Formats: sequence, structure tokens, C-alpha cells
Amino acid sequence: MDEKTDGKNLVHKSVLLEESIHLLNLSPGKKIIDATFGGGGHSRSILEAIGPGGKLLAIDWDRENLEKMSGSFGKYGESFVPVWGNFSHVAKLASATNFPIPVDGILLDLGFSSLQMDDRTRGFSFQSDSKLDMRGDRTRPLSAWDVVNFYKVDELSRIFRSFGEERKAFVIAKAIVEYRKEKPIDTALELSALVERTVGGRKGSRIHPATRIFQAIRIEVNGELDNLERVLEASIDLLAVGGRLVVISFHSLEDRIVKNFFKKHSVSCVCPPRFPICRCGQRKNLEIITKKPVVPTGEEVDINRRSRSAKLRAAERI
Ligand SMILES: C[S@@+](CC[C@H](N)C(=O)[O-])C[C@H]1O[C@@H](n2cnc3c(N)ncnc32)[C@H](O)[C@@H]1O
Repeated sequence: MDEKTDGKNLVHKSVLLEESIHLLNLSPGKKIIDATFGGGGHSRSILEAIGPGGKLLAIDWDRENLEKMSGSFGKYGESFVPVWGNFSHVAKLASATNFPIPVDGILLDLGFSSLQMDDRTRGFSFQSDSKLDMRGDRTRPLSAWDVVNFYKVDELSRIFRSFGEERKAFVIAKAIVEYRKEKPIDTALELSALVERTVGGRKGSRIHPATRIFQAIRIEVNGELDNLERVLEASIDLLAVGGRLVVISFHSLEDRIVKNFFKKHSVSCVCPPRFPICRCGQRKNLEIITKKPVVPTGEEVDINRRSRSAKLRAAERI
């Protein structure tokens, strides 16, 4: 999702909206889970398509955002069921709200909205002078400040390498540990300036040297990859036969998890070929619909820059 201003208010622009609605294969009366409600752009289109006989469970772990953005959904009455929580607990959230299972579709539009990313109180953006925080769910104890100021050099180096795919992970981790001997690293700007001093500026690169470091810290703080793996696994039992799973991801680590998950569940046996009979017990659960990921058109990228890294994958429960 991205933001643009209509002159007065900040409004949201959902990524791959038409494509995801089409691939969810919506029709009146269907029951759908939007596990990443955000600004409600996808949810609104889903509700319009499923009509008053349908039902939508709208999950978000950012309570403030959920309350604010769902305010205008009153007209959908009982069709709209907002719930605060982590989508990795999707089955529990559905049962706590008496949402009817199985469902006909699950949508995941991962990451954070531009409004969250640009919120000066949250420290997501390396250009902002706000306190390092980056928590999606602000009731959770671990913030970016804790990671940056308390993690040991090896832990920092590991997350920069694994979650940021940063080649200079150790050098940056060491610079952070040296710096904080003098004072804590408090703001996003302070951290990005330190990274820049350590490894140099953009040097002709499209991305700022701190981009990968911020991505890594955000993933660590929010347990993003674990949450994704959990919600994908849970979706198998939640989807009705013929139900669709649609996932929009924004970086290669997420996309790889989705791709591998789809692959794993779209084959009926993973035993080595030398085994005369199947011993793995694996069942084919999904039919992949998007052989290659769907990406935004040039026109969408022009209107909404955040969409440029989006990849959509869809599969059907069989
Ligand atoms: C990119 S935005 C979704 C935008 C939305 N599709 C729209 O059209 O407005 C992602 C949303 O998912 C939420 N989110 C991310 N990870 C989550 C998780 N593990 N559990 C629940 N919500 C999560 C974020 O707080 C954010 O509001």
C-alpha cells in the first residue's frame, strides 16, 4: 500500500488490488480472511464483492490503525469482523470471533503500510529523526532500540546477514557496538548516519546503505519470517476445497518462503526416487495458480512507488 494526499487527508493506495481481487475468485456469500487489514483497501473491495451474505475477518496487529481505519466500515454490518492480533494466530482469532471455518479465501498483503512507515513516532524510516521502535504491535516488549542497543556483535551481524542480506554485516555490527560505548543509539537518523559513515554513501547505488540494515532490524523486531511461515501452514486447515490463498510480498526473503511453501504443498510425495513406496505421507494440498509471480504494471509503479518490489503468488486448496 502507498499513500497519496487528496489535498486534505492522507489516503491509501492498495498494491495489486485488481489482481488480488480477481485471484481470490470472489462471489456473493463467500467467507474471506484479510489477514493484513492495513488501510482497508483490499478489505473494502472484498466486502463489495461478497455482498451482505458474505463475511470478512479483518486482522491487524496494529490496534490503533485497526480502530482508526475500520471506523468507516460500519455500513457492512455483520459482514465485517475486525479483530486485533498477530496473523500467525489466525486459527485462534477466527475461533475467538466465531468466524465460520473453513473459508473461501485468505489474503496476505505483507509488511507495513506507507502511513505506518512514515509515522514519525515509529522509527521505520531511516530518514526520520524519530526514536527507533519499528514494532508493528506496540504492545510487544522488543523494539528496534533494544535490538540496536543490547544485541551482541555476533547477534547483530547474524540478523544483518540473514534478514538484510548485507555483505558488510560484521563491520556494521562492530561499528554499532563501538558507538554505543559512548551513548545509546536513539534515533533512526542516528543509526542511518552511523551506517553511512561506516560503509560510505550510496556510491551510485539506487538504495541507501542503511536500507538493508533497517529491513533486518524490522524483521527481527517483528518476527516477520516466523509469522509468515506460521500463517501459511495454518491456512491449509482453514481453507475450504477450492479456496484461494493470495500472498503479496515485498522482499526476496518473504517471496522465497511463499514460493517454497507453495512448492512443498503442491506435490503429493517428497520421498527420494529410490524409495519403492511412499514413506513421507505428504499430501498434495495446493494447486499453484500463478506459475510466475504477478508483478505490478509500469503504470501502477508510476502511481505508487512502493508497489515496485511487490510479488503476488496465488494457490488453490485442493
Ligand atoms: C501493507 S499493509 C496492508 C494494506 C491493505 N491490504 C490495504 O489495502 O490497505 C500490511 C498490514 O498488515 C499488518 N501486519 C503485518 N504483519 C502482521 C501480523 N503478523 N499480524 C497482523 N497484522 C500484521 C500491518 O500492521 C499493516 O497494517
